[in-house]
Amino acid sequence: MKSQKIRTSARPQKKPPATKQWTGKIHCGDATKILAKVPENLVDTIVTSPPYFQQRNYDSQKQVGRESTPQEYVDRLVEVFAAARSCLKPTGSLWLVLGDKYQKGRLLGMPWRVALALQDDGWILRSDIIWHKPNAMPSSVKSRPTTDHEYVFFLTASADYYYDQDSIREPHVTFSEKSRMKGGRTHFFKRGSTPEQGKNGGNTNLHDARWDQAFHPKGRNKRTVWTIPLSKVREAHFAVFPESLVETCVLAGSPKGGVVLDPFMGSGTTAIVAGRNEREYVGIDCNSEYCSMARKRIKAAAANSK
Ligand SMILES: C[S@@+](CC[C@H](N)C(=O)[O-])C[C@H]1O[C@@H](n2cnc3c(N)ncnc32)[C@H](O)[C@@H]1O
Repeated sequence: MKSQKIRTSARPQKKPPATKQWTGKIHCGDATKILAKVPENLVDTIVTSPPYFQQRNYDSQKQVGRESTPQEYVDRLVEVFAAARSCLKPTGSLWLVLGDKYQKGRLLGMPWRVALALQDDGWILRSDIIWHKPNAMPSSVKSRPTTDHEYVFFLTASADYYYDQDSIREPHVTFSEKSRMKGGRTHFFKRGSTPEQGKNGGNTNLHDARWDQAFHPKGRNKRTVWTIPLSKVREAHFAVFPESLVETCVLAGSPKGGVVLDPFMGSGTTAIVAGRNEREYVGIDCNSEYCSMARKRIKAAAANSK
């Protein structure tokens, strides 16, 4: 049975097929239709980048992104992710990468429209992450700043979810072990103590947060701006997301041996990263050429890693 905390769209009862029928495969077809057949409680985390609103043609009648209004696009994605949520474990999560769109000089705010609609549909929005692209396409606009970011939304199916904080810590930048900054290490002393005299002295919450930020041996807690260059895949005619971005989501969102789902698999990036990190994958794409491309790339990546 599904957790009662999760509101899922109604769908017919189905007999769950064996897990191995679904993992380690790219399933070719419309995401919503295929997800309706995927067993419940299979997936630890979803990492995906759907087609953006009216951005590109993926040569398929079933494709997402060609809807005529923003609302139709939002509704379609809410439907896809309701179907995806029904395959998640109760502790499961969704990492959703989305970019925005200008129409007649107006920014549509598509990522936030989708995020808020998902929230209304029962998802818990835990983080809005800025993916800063240092090598973003230059643009000739003179009347506004050039866009060089997209969003990564971290959403969960329930309040009690899997999240491995330590696996994605980042290097300390404020202080180091050898910092000679005034107060330095002695200012913070050690976790659990309250050494601060004067301002904020005795505030254990603040003290522990600072200790974590400055001296935790594995680095400071991951921040919400991720600077990651765009990467290119020769065979793909569309934007692929960078492996290091996917890796962060896979590591934090699933344990070793867990299952990662991408319902808009494209060139296979999510599956490649999942395999490299000892996770299983379930991939879906509606374009049969891209399904073949993903299968080839996944096979080559697995062969290279031996
Ligand atoms: C932005 S691309 C994903 C790129 C991918 N993240 C990568 O790194 O290669 C979006 C993908 O969604 C697929 N797609 C579009 N509509 C779909 C649908 N209804 N069901 C399944 N896949 C769909 C497209 O064919 C395309 O490959």
